[in-house]
Amino acid sequence: MKTVFSGIQPSGTLTLGNYLGAMKNFVDMQEDANCYFCIVDQHAITVPQDRLKLKENIRSLAALYLAVGIDPKKSTLFIQSEVPAHAQLGWIMQCVGYIGELERMTQFKDKSDGKDAVSVALLTYPPLMAADILLYQTDIVPVGEDQKQHLELTRDLAERFNKKYNDIFTIPEVKIPKVGARIMSLNDPSKKMSKSNPNPKSFISMLDEPATIRKKVKSAVTDTDGEIRFDRENKPAVSNLLSIYSLCTGLSIDDIVAKYAGVGYGDFKTDLAEVIVAELEPIQNRYHELINSEELDQILDIGAEKANRTASKMISKAERAIGLGRKRR
Ligand code: TYM
Repeated sequence: MKTVFSGIQPSGTLTLGNYLGAMKNFVDMQEDANCYFCIVDQHAITVPQDRLKLKENIRSLAALYLAVGIDPKKSTLFIQSEVPAHAQLGWIMQCVGYIGELERMTQFKDKSDGKDAVSVALLTYPPLMAADILLYQTDIVPVGEDQKQHLELTRDLAERFNKKYNDIFTIPEVKIPKVGARIMSLNDPSKKMSKSNPNPKSFISMLDEPATIRKKVKSAVTDTDGEIRFDRENKPAVSNLLSIYSLCTGLSIDDIVAKYAGVGYGDFKTDLAEVIVAELEPIQNRYHELINSEELDQILDIGAEKANRTASKMISKAERAIGLGRKRR
């Protein structure tokens, strides 16, 4: 049985981009793989966080994972900081990585650009991400397109460690969806939809009220040629809306284009808003049932225990391979 690992940062309410590019795809994978889904709170603190807000976001993300259909009987759902082996292997991976390769990460360049107080951890974040994955002998990592470079680095670090010390790590494969790997901002289709964008009109949050979703979709930018057609290069905004429609309904892009032949953008957007509401509403209802429940804590306790069991074996192996400590384990 293959092992799957993925993580999401609790750094704000998830967007439709996080959902369509990552979370939605996790649900099907549970059927025939051993899955680990992680709330990567240690990654979130690479940029400043308010402590109470962070606590809230951690819980909220856990409830969202469950609300979309992550089944704790099939998958292990846990919080990164509750499994100390992540930080331990993260340190070892920092010793295996080179500054040059970390400085080349586009996400580091984007997030540090123009800032004068950049944390060290923003640079050394990818080795921690590599540790997350490598602790579980992961075969497959489902993520959106923006994580591809981090996955390539993970593979490089694992291969380097295996060659230099001992062949202990499984080399993971990245799995990026064909449609939805990069959901774009609603008001600027050249930027990805992101929860850290200060303009709330640029994204749909998974917990937005139906009225808010309708308003945001209505104000989404389109173009001037008036035709509903998929063309990423020349019609990026409309193509993005078509991708969202397709992912929420399961209809192919071709079928949607045929359905809206000759129809104006206004009517298309009205329908699109309903399609998104229909997709998110049941998730939101389940979310509200879970968010203050004891069940949520029990699931996270069991998840942390299971993850700790696997991860502690791997960290021992890695420490032994590299020569740390006193005991000949
Ligand atoms: P994060 O928290 O930024 O995003 C979580 C997941 O959502 C995907 N995603 C998108 N997909 C499509 N369109 C978008 N606009 C969009 N925005 C985000 C991301 O690709 C990701 O899959 N470094 C990771 C978290 C992480 C991780 C890991 C992932 C830490 N350790 C180990 C996998 C394995 C991150 O910051 O994702």
